[in-house]
Amino acid sequence: MPYAPEHDEIPNPLRPGLRAESAPEPCAMVIFGGSGDLAHRKLVPALYNLALGAHLPAAFAVIGVSKTPYAHDEYAREMREAVGKYSRTRPVDPEVWQDFASGIRYVAGSFDDADTFARLRSQLEEVDRSRATRRNRLYYFATPPSVFPVLLRQLKDAGLVRPPGESGFTRVVIEKPFGRDLASARALNRLVLSTCDERQVFRIDHYLGKETVQNILVLRFGNSIFEPIWNRRYVDHVEITAGEELGIEGRGRYYEEAGVLRDMIQNHVQQLVCFCAMEPPVAFDADAVRDEKIKVLRAIEVFDTPEQVARNVVLGQYMAGSVAGADVPGYQQEKDVAQRSRTPTFVAARLNIRSWRWDGVPFYVRSGKRLPKRATEIAIHFRRIPHQLFDEGATQPNVLIIRVQPQEGIALRFSAKVPGERYRPRIVSMDFRYGTTFGAGTPEAYERLLLDALRGDQTLFTRADEVEAAWKIVGSILKVTESAEFPPPHPYTAGTWGPVAADELLARDGRAWRRL
Ligand code: BG6
Repeated sequence: MPYAPEHDEIPNPLRPGLRAESAPEPCAMVIFGGSGDLAHRKLVPALYNLALGAHLPAAFAVIGVSKTPYAHDEYAREMREAVGKYSRTRPVDPEVWQDFASGIRYVAGSFDDADTFARLRSQLEEVDRSRATRRNRLYYFATPPSVFPVLLRQLKDAGLVRPPGESGFTRVVIEKPFGRDLASARALNRLVLSTCDERQVFRIDHYLGKETVQNILVLRFGNSIFEPIWNRRYVDHVEITAGEELGIEGRGRYYEEAGVLRDMIQNHVQQLVCFCAMEPPVAFDADAVRDEKIKVLRAIEVFDTPEQVARNVVLGQYMAGSVAGADVPGYQQEKDVAQRSRTPTFVAARLNIRSWRWDGVPFYVRSGKRLPKRATEIAIHFRRIPHQLFDEGATQPNVLIIRVQPQEGIALRFSAKVPGERYRPRIVSMDFRYGTTFGAGTPEAYERLLLDALRGDQTLFTRADEVEAAWKIVGSILKVTESAEFPPPHPYTAGTWGPVAADELLARDGRAWRRL
């Protein structure tokens, strides 16, 4: 049985058996980049699943905007196919789809052309009349970042952005990457905030939409037993791995510009660090939670000399190898990748959080493409017991493992007595699994985030100062590693856990990565 929330339930006229937690206001959502990959794979399937779960407002419309020409019904048909292919629930429910598809529209045109925005405006007015969307707009920038400035300017010039407080809300959802270093992120923030108010801006990081990531907050602040030991007195070190089997999946052009530091660390991994390391917020609201995350980012030691970077950061790049039994090419043989590319596809780093709670507790993070398996997990390693009482083999330090994906769950490893007449300790595990407890119906990250944006809840979106604080850390590392004098990334064979230097990073501290 899928898990069904039981609070604040609102009946859904379409599916009387299903109830939503709290319905968002009527709204027209505009997807810039409507013919693109993200719309096909993630956004429209997520919207369909929200419709299926009765979470969308009764008055809702989706308008795709892109260059590719489509008639409204052609676009709807293509989206139907995409949902059939990528939705987490299948087959597509014809009744729900029909109702959802009746609100699908399409505007073809170039983003440079003011006329596209004039036509978008008429289309929005049409759905306000026919779908009662009440001048509420959610603009989703599912485009390459180079397009963000022109979208902002055109929306402003076409009078499609209304300040908060006027009737009909305007919200803008901006995909990553938000800038490529601190200076460009600042410039983009200035531009965004010259068009919108911060309360209207939703900078997305899809990791925050993951149930297991949100659950870190419930684990820490919804229980009384963890918080007292969640600090330097009891925690020895923290280990965060975000590993992928996948390579760059035909995204060579993007990845060459990004590399693992921009692609995974500046956003997803730093968010995991923040959730693990933050202080309890004074309230569970957007600003209180984000204030605490920013404090963590500000406390992370900035590495800005080659010596500091060399001591704390290891970069790698995959060579040909074999992953899950299949031979795969090296990074430099991938399409659109330079033959002597220095772009890192793997990073391991030791982050130091200079705060009262964490000083002296290293946070080891690593992320990479073409590793042996897909595994994102956080391991909180507790200190050793001060004195071994049992002769028959030493006890092992406790570890709390938060499995973000896959096999979502939490495990606590502790010592137990092996049955028998002697006191022989062995490490055992208490294991909570999402699948077993809550069923298989967990929503996808984009569903949660789209719903929050529709509701106007910014808690799981990054604020201007947060994104800049995150860039400060990664940007300073990039400045060093992207200089010509810095050595190129260490090669590693695809299908291994990165270069040996990543193991040495921990070995120097007398530690080792967990075997996953
Ligand atoms: C994206 C990155 O943001 O996150 C990809 O651009 C990466 O390179 C992906 O594969 C990982 O997301 P997930 O949800 O599969 O862990």
